[in-house]
This record gives sequence, structure tokens and C-alpha cells, in this order.
Amino acid sequence: MNQKTYPIAVIAGDGTGPEVVAEGIKVLKAAANRFGFSLEFHAFPFGGEHYKKTGETLPDTALAELRKFSAILLGAIGHPDVAPGVLETGILLKLRFGLDQYVNLRPIKLYAGVETPLKDKGPEDIDFVVIRENTEGLYAGAGGFLKKGTPDEVAIQESINTHKGVERCIRYAFELTRKRNKAKKLTLCGKTNVLIYAFDLWQRVFNDVAKDYPDVTTDYAHVDAICMWMIKNPETFDVIVTDNLFGDIITDLGAMIQGGMGIAAGGNINPQGVSMFEPIGGSAPKYAGKGVINPLAAISAAAMMLETLGEQEAADAIEQAVKATIKRLKSLSAGKMGCTTQEAGTMVAELIEA
Ligand code: IPM
Ligand code: MN
Repeated sequence: MNQKTYPIAVIAGDGTGPEVVAEGIKVLKAAANRFGFSLEFHAFPFGGEHYKKTGETLPDTALAELRKFSAILLGAIGHPDVAPGVLETGILLKLRFGLDQYVNLRPIKLYAGVETPLKDKGPEDIDFVVIRENTEGLYAGAGGFLKKGTPDEVAIQESINTHKGVERCIRYAFELTRKRNKAKKLTLCGKTNVLIYAFDLWQRVFNDVAKDYPDVTTDYAHVDAICMWMIKNPETFDVIVTDNLFGDIITDLGAMIQGGMGIAAGGNINPQGVSMFEPIGGSAPKYAGKGVINPLAAISAAAMMLETLGEQEAADAIEQAVKATIKRLKSLSAGKMGCTTQEAGTMVAELIEA
């Protein structure tokens, strides 16, 4: 039998990354068995520990090698002993930029049985997707210091917004809104009243691209208002598209209303290239190695990976198994699940095999 085989690069990274990625792989193997494809995992050592040992963040040769894989599964990058910025720009952003993963896809979905801090809101109210531009904006690193360390110091950090970069992100958002086929509403999140150059471009491109999607309702809100409505009326959102920094901020807000870091997953997508999937919770060093961290976010990231690879049935099966597992856990919080990281992963895997 000729089975389809996907080579998958694994960057387990730091802290709880390796533990949760191991459960993601356990579940992926179960899904592959059940649905008749196979996955070959290849581990890469990058992360804070590796940096401390070798001084290396992510060499260009690794970037070239990673381009040969079908997808990348990432655990977490971050180390308490490494200065802020070194690993973020040297590894995570280098991966996103280097592999041109121009969409950061973050579903905000409250599953039944998961506690949300929003009073009187349930799974029918919290189900939307944020599409964050992932290669430009304030993250591009444009800027510098003048007279650093003196009383006359100047620090400049500029937001880069290219027509091409904005357009491909917005187009992806319209396509996804159509494909989701829910309210078919796309909201542009910006700050057109203050960021009069950057979001003028965003708004014009948004209006232009909208002409190709007459079936999609368009909407605009300033980022500060979005923060209010995500709390007060999350049910009014279907898909939100925004720039890199605003997307970073509103998706942490989104993660909280969907039940926290134990469940929030994201994809760094290059539709024409290699995409990377990650739980968005970070390395959580205080829980590392204890078997108490919730692996469901990493497992959901693995499901997103299969969806992107075209294994929709397998992705759906993982989502169903995650939903069923949630009902058996006491809580989604680290240390309070009522079982270990490994047991939670096994529950999901067994539900898929059954
Ligand atoms: C995220 C993270 C990263 C970001 C950090 C770690 C650089 O917060 O994936 O949202 O800001 O993009
Ligand atoms: Mn973030």
C-alpha cells in the first residue's frame, strides 16, 4: 500500500515545550494510523537551552533545511536566563520571517465545559478567528537608537506595512471567511483615527479586496473598541484581520476568553510554503518536567497542522477527541487537570483510535 507520508520538523524548545509536543506527536500518530497516512518526525534542538550551550539561535542552514518539510511543530521558545529579545527575534521571528509565514491564524473557540471569565457567555457566543499579519508591522525591526545612553537619546521603531504584505494577508482573511461559512463577516481591526498612514493603506486594500468577495460582509473597528467588544459582545465576531502588534495583543485577550493558555493554539501559515504550528502559551518554566501542564493546546496545534496539510478528517477527529477529553478533565489549568500531561494526551489518542 502506498501511504502518503509527511515529513514533520519538530522544534520542541524550552520549558514545558517538549512535554506538550510529545503528547501532540502521540495524538498525531494515532490519527495517522486511523486515517491511513504517515508522519515522519525529525527533531531540531533550537531553543534557550541550546543557545546557552552553543551560542547558536537559529542558523541560516537550519532555515534552508526546514524548507524541505511538510510542516513544523513548535513547542515553546523562552528561557528565564536569556535576555528578552534574543530568542524571540533569533528563533521565533526568524522562523516566521525566514519562511515567510505571513498569516498568524488564531481560532478563538470556547469548547463546551470550559470555563470562560465572561459572565453569561457560552460556546455559542465565543467562536471566531483572528488573522494576524505575521511578517511586517512593528515586528519588522525597523528603527534604531541615536545617542544611546545619553540624555539626548532617541529610540525609533517604525511600523512597516507593504501593499503586498497587507494585501496577501487580507485576501487570506476573505478566503477563510468564505470557507468558514458562518456569519461570513470580516472585521478589519485597526486604528485609522491615529495611525493615519499605516491603516489608511490597510483600509484601502481591505475595500479593494472586498470587491472580489461580494458574499462577505465587511466591518471595521478600532483596536481599542475591539478589546471592549471581545469582552462584551464576542458573538458579533466571525473573522478579524489585523496587523502584527494588534494581532499579538488581541489574541492573548482571545486566549483568555476561550479558556486560557491550556487550550489556545495558533498556526504560522505560508500558504505556498512551510507552515508552523504552536500552542501559544509559552515555555512556563515553573511547570517544566513535572507532568502537570495541559497538552491540549499543543494537540490542537497538531490538529491545525493536519488541516493545513489537507487531512481534514483526521483534524476533525482530533478536535472531537479534544472536546471529549475536556469533559473528563477537572480543569484546564496546569496542575489542576486531575491527571498528568501524559494521561491527558493518552485520553485524546485513545479516543481517536476507538
Ligand atoms: C506570540 C508571542 C510572540 C509574539 C513573542 C514570544 C515574540 O507573544 O506568538 O504571540 O509577540 O509574536
Ligand atoms: Mn503574543
